[in-house]
Amino acid sequence: MCGIVAGVAQRSSIVPALLEGLKRLEYRGYDSCGVAVLQQHGAPRRIRTLARVQALETEVRAADLNGSTGIAHTRWATHGMPAIANAHPIFSGDQIAVVHNGIIENHEALREALIAQGYEFASQTDTEIIAHLIHSHYCGDLLAAVHNAIRVLKGAYAIAVICKDEPQRVIGARQGSPLVVGLGADGAFLASDTFALARCASRFIYLEDGDIADLLRGDVRIVERDGGPVVRDVRTVAEQPANADLGAYRHYMQKEIFEQPLAVARTVPHLHSLDATLFGTADPVAFAGIDSVLMLGCGTSYFSALTARAWFESIAGIAAHAELSSEYRYRDYVPQRGTLVVPISQSGETADTLAALRYAQSLGEERTLTICNVAASAMVRQSRWAFVTQAGPEIGVASTKAFTTQLVALFLLALTIGRQRGRLNAAQTAALLRQLVGLPDALRGALAREPQIMAWAQELHRKDHALFIGRGLHYPIALEGALKMKEISYIHAEGYPAGELKHGPLALVTDAMPVIVTAPNDILLEKLKSNMQEVRARGGQLYVIADANTHLASAPGVRLIWMPDYYGVLSPLLHVVAFQLLAYHVACLRGTDVDKPRNLAKSVTVE
Ligand code: G6P
Repeated sequence: MCGIVAGVAQRSSIVPALLEGLKRLEYRGYDSCGVAVLQQHGAPRRIRTLARVQALETEVRAADLNGSTGIAHTRWATHGMPAIANAHPIFSGDQIAVVHNGIIENHEALREALIAQGYEFASQTDTEIIAHLIHSHYCGDLLAAVHNAIRVLKGAYAIAVICKDEPQRVIGARQGSPLVVGLGADGAFLASDTFALARCASRFIYLEDGDIADLLRGDVRIVERDGGPVVRDVRTVAEQPANADLGAYRHYMQKEIFEQPLAVARTVPHLHSLDATLFGTADPVAFAGIDSVLMLGCGTSYFSALTARAWFESIAGIAAHAELSSEYRYRDYVPQRGTLVVPISQSGETADTLAALRYAQSLGEERTLTICNVAASAMVRQSRWAFVTQAGPEIGVASTKAFTTQLVALFLLALTIGRQRGRLNAAQTAALLRQLVGLPDALRGALAREPQIMAWAQELHRKDHALFIGRGLHYPIALEGALKMKEISYIHAEGYPAGELKHGPLALVTDAMPVIVTAPNDILLEKLKSNMQEVRARGGQLYVIADANTHLASAPGVRLIWMPDYYGVLSPLLHVVAFQLLAYHVACLRGTDVDKPRNLAKSVTVE
């Protein structure tokens, strides 16, 4: 994916806005970053680095890089390894400079054609094709050149382009990847999201696929794919709190783990009645006639779908399916009448989930309800209904409070549908809601286990592998625990349903293999205990997060951390907190970059 920011300032230098924008876009990738500016005369000046934006800022200051027009980029490598030559802005000669977010699928054929025309390539990026293509079409009008160049591109892109011969102009274009225009007091801007421009613009235009934006001397004109002018809505977006203050915490991930009681409390609404209007419908019984729920998500958001599936079945008595967006979007899915399609996403921009939502709509699915942490996101705009979680900005790449607040939203949805279908009476509903309201306190109880978890981390951080196991409602929590561990500590970790160990993973179990267990005091406990015995019989080392009253005992090879009492159907939210803390402390001991783990990014806007 990558983040792009660009603009034409009317009075001051564009550089501070570009650097501020890049800092706010680092969540989209941090393999390299760079900036290029135009001054009144001469070729664009560029600075690129493999370090973070902070270091770029120091270099830019030292070089006294200034100018009214510029483009900037933070990269998540797709084509070509992280290297200065592959860092954006990418040039064609000294005339055209481009930043790009997306993937050009027909880059090989286009590269050959451009080489045949005499172009030489200095990078391994697909972006360089765009730069040379624009150069090949340039006859004094950058808008016309971009318009002609993008006609032959296949794939996804958001680009911003500057040209030496038009020092007060930036052209932006999008197809598939996000791009917004920001209108500010001192000029016009482009960026991958509104957050990047929050300091310099208050009004925004969300470009649509096929749009080209012409920022000329700070004015904005938009044309469509066919070249005709088009007027798009201008929206005012309130600035999201940057939440940049770490306070007493060492990392954003740690802060966000500890924010969960508050985030959950904020997400639980003050309920007067439990009906569909909670999810943005006008009609309180909009979910009548729904007989199945299809949830779509990637990464951690997919695991919240998997967790909630059991709630829809047991609480609402409704068929429920959880699908990985990247798989679902390419399946010959057979739509069924009466399905509520529920995309789940922290960012609301994840390319695969957005495409999965659009695919569902193309199949005739009309009832779509996005659960998302960003109110103005593409998925919220694309979907018929929405529930916006109140986790607040999540900065750590590994998702934590977004997960627990998504689960709150899904739990409320299960209750709403269950109530509407007559599966829950008033007393049952009230009891479940009381449990939900008590969740922040219960989460505090789970967080209080941190010292014991830190002691486990001392042992586990030297391991190369780990297995996470759970059953039933807690199996997705084992998956999430393993994901957290691998993404931030780089320990190879797998999540498995405990009942499946004997069908393969037991072969991996030796005394060098820690097996980390989520053991709630639920109806599957005895089955789980048998699975744990199977591990012990092979010398496996057990690390068990267990509820009080599970009658498990510490023994050689069995370490236990007691959670507060069994918290019923909401118990997964407590156990996951223990796994988040475990991954966090293991990662700290291994010295990884916890908030920006290698090769990953927070928002994945390429497929
Ligand atoms: C990336 C992030 C994960 C996140 C996933 C889905 O992989 O690193 O933390 O779960 O994307 O993102 P979304 O914004 O759609 O929830």
